[in-house]
Amino acid sequence: MTEDLQSIERDFSQSLEQVKNLKELEELRVRFLGKKGTLTLSLRSIGSLPASERPGFGEEVNQLRRSFEDSLTKQKSKLEDDAISQSLSQNCLDVTMPGRKRSGGSLHPLRQVENELVKAFQSLGFSVETGPEIETDFYNFEALNFPQDHPARDMQDTFFLSDGRVLRTHTSPVQVRLMESKKPPLQVIVPGRVYRHDSDVTHSPVFHQVEGLCVGPDVSFAHLKGSLEAFVKMIFGSNAKVRFRPSFFPFTEPSAEIDVMGPKGWMEILGCGMVDPNVFQKVGASWEERGEDSPYDPEEISGFAFGIGVERIAMILHGIDNIKSFYENDQRFLSQFV
Ligand code: PHE
Repeated sequence: MTEDLQSIERDFSQSLEQVKNLKELEELRVRFLGKKGTLTLSLRSIGSLPASERPGFGEEVNQLRRSFEDSLTKQKSKLEDDAISQSLSQNCLDVTMPGRKRSGGSLHPLRQVENELVKAFQSLGFSVETGPEIETDFYNFEALNFPQDHPARDMQDTFFLSDGRVLRTHTSPVQVRLMESKKPPLQVIVPGRVYRHDSDVTHSPVFHQVEGLCVGPDVSFAHLKGSLEAFVKMIFGSNAKVRFRPSFFPFTEPSAEIDVMGPKGWMEILGCGMVDPNVFQKVGASWEERGEDSPYDPEEISGFAFGIGVERIAMILHGIDNIKSFYENDQRFLSQFV
């Protein structure tokens, strides 16, 4: 081999040892084997050799080229392997690490409390019904013995729709709907959303009630008291501070309210009373309009009704003093009820 070629070979091997990455390797390839590479250029000197030496020299250059290419390929795959192991050790995946837990959804605290109330009444023999949230004046007021222009309508802070219908201000209209369509005896509860133009720490424009209605031949105020006392004990325990207060609703007579001691003193949790005979009469008129005898003759039938505020009960049970907490969807609040 000529001295020139020997020095090119030395230079190549030394440079190869110093190559640290694929980019440098490519640079090395170009430096020796590229169009203007050292080895490529050395072929040009072939013309200055005696004709007899030319084939030998050409052969040597070609051998050298193959051996360079060989070394380059080997070095390339070594560098690629190194790059892979390096990236594996940097972005290392520890398969023994415990997985991240997904936080599951859960029922909203109001739904949880509503479910508890429903369960308590089911254990007393009540079944569950529902009714529409958009109501006519007839069901929300008229049939419940709120005459037109009666001041009791002011108690309700009604949202009116443009067609004259209303967002129901209470679940009591469902009492009327049920008595219009079913014969007594009735023992039902009606959970649902209700709407009033009212907003402070204990009032929200949308809130939830559970209505109750029990109608039969000899239903008395004693049944009302017994049922509601049993209910209050089931929810708040027998040591809860509870009081019964006389009250007024157009659709019950006599009427009462129950207060329970809450985070900020007495809190009203429900209104109740004996179904007013005027309500039975309105319901009876609907049966008669359909050509049927009314099964709700106030002389033969009596009943009690109640309407429970779900938010109020949840506030007392969980010591919450602002009703808005239920609607803000703050995870820190909600996750306490998982
Ligand atoms: N509907 C009444 C209210 O929303 C509660 C109630 C229901 C009172 C049934 C008596 C009987 O305030």
